[in-house]
Amino acid sequence: MSKTALVTGILGQDGPYLADLLLKKGYKVFGLIRRYSNPNFSNLDYLGVTNDVDYVEGDMNDEASLLNLIRMLHPDEVYNLAAQSFVKASFEQAKLTTEVNSLGPLYLLNAIKFFSPTSKFYQASTSEMFGLQHTNGYQDEKTPFHPRSPYGVSKVYAYWMTVNYRESYGLFTANGILFNHESPIRGIQFVTRKITDGVAKIKLGLAKELRLGNLDAKRDWGFAGDYVEAMYLMLQQKNPDDYVVGTGESHSVREFVEAAFKSIGISDWKKYVVIDPQFKRPAEVPNLKAKADKVRKNLGWKPKVSFEELVEMMVKADLKRYGK
Ligand code: NAP
Ligand code: GDD
Repeated sequence: MSKTALVTGILGQDGPYLADLLLKKGYKVFGLIRRYSNPNFSNLDYLGVTNDVDYVEGDMNDEASLLNLIRMLHPDEVYNLAAQSFVKASFEQAKLTTEVNSLGPLYLLNAIKFFSPTSKFYQASTSEMFGLQHTNGYQDEKTPFHPRSPYGVSKVYAYWMTVNYRESYGLFTANGILFNHESPIRGIQFVTRKITDGVAKIKLGLAKELRLGNLDAKRDWGFAGDYVEAMYLMLQQKNPDDYVVGTGESHSVREFVEAAFKSIGISDWKKYVVIDPQFKRPAEVPNLKAKADKVRKNLGWKPKVSFEELVEMMVKADLKRYGK
């Protein structure tokens, strides 16, 4: 019999890449969607898997819907990707962010504890939990947390609940502490996609400028398609554990901008970029750089797509979209 997986956040960026991977491995994939008048399947369409996923309704804010789903499905694996994932919005919507990102995973953990204790659980933890902290310029599994946003704080709660339910009840729960990962279906508000979308529009004469915030922030950017493999691998191990996942390379937003303009043959990018304070944050995370030795050694995972390839892939996809 084929294995079953419940994936929350199925309509986001990572959900479709993970669904694609699990379907190729023969899983039956249940995707959680909230009630919508018009759900948006465009990211699943991009990967060509819209009709292969079984959709189930529920909401991370609605405990009963999650309890009921776990009770009915008894999935072999649960991947909790759903979140209010935009850091900037979490400053204005701290309560909502906490409810979805902290209490949502708690509801799922309780549902597993009561109704399906053999289900393995993956929690989408994040490098944002490190915030200001680093160990000699890197972050790894031993680096302490110092979150800098309501988003980061909400994810620290979920991280520890995931650890606690493993330690208290012997559940198979794993945290993937993922650094930034991007793709052509990255949400348009996030800086990489905002840049590649803007660059494509400028190239095609559809826009004259690109308005951005802090160009000095540095991130460890990888490709989402690579990172979902690490999520899957974490749930295939004999013992549950927590892993940092990243490339080990850090680039500034400025470098991303430069690379994106360069990929369309423009070197004087400064002519097009306007610094706009509305895109700056009350507190910033200045530098994220993963030391992902554990995931490489224990799971044999490594990224396949380089920074330059990622930028080019995203710019090309946006040019193609507008070209149409
Ligand atoms: P994303 O594109 O923002 O997708 C998040 C998904 O969560 C969306 O599909 C959204 O559904 C769903 N969601 C939000 N609130 C919900 C609710 N109340 N009930 C049910 N579903 C809800 O995020 P992503 O980039 O794929 O990231 C996946 C996960 O990894 C997130 O938890 C994120 O915090 C975490 N993470 C991401 C990165 C990264 O660089 N991408 C790095 C580390 C960790 P709708 O489509 O209905 O809005
Ligand atoms: N979004 C955005 N828009 N960010 C900008 C802009 C802008 O116009 N200008 C500069 N930035 C800077 C932000 O201040 C931040 O330092 C950096 O670009 C990256 O911002 P985002 O792409 O919004 O991502 P993030 O790093 O805050 O959060 C993402 O990665 C986390 C993992 O580290 C999200 O995917 C989170 O959900 C994820 O946990």
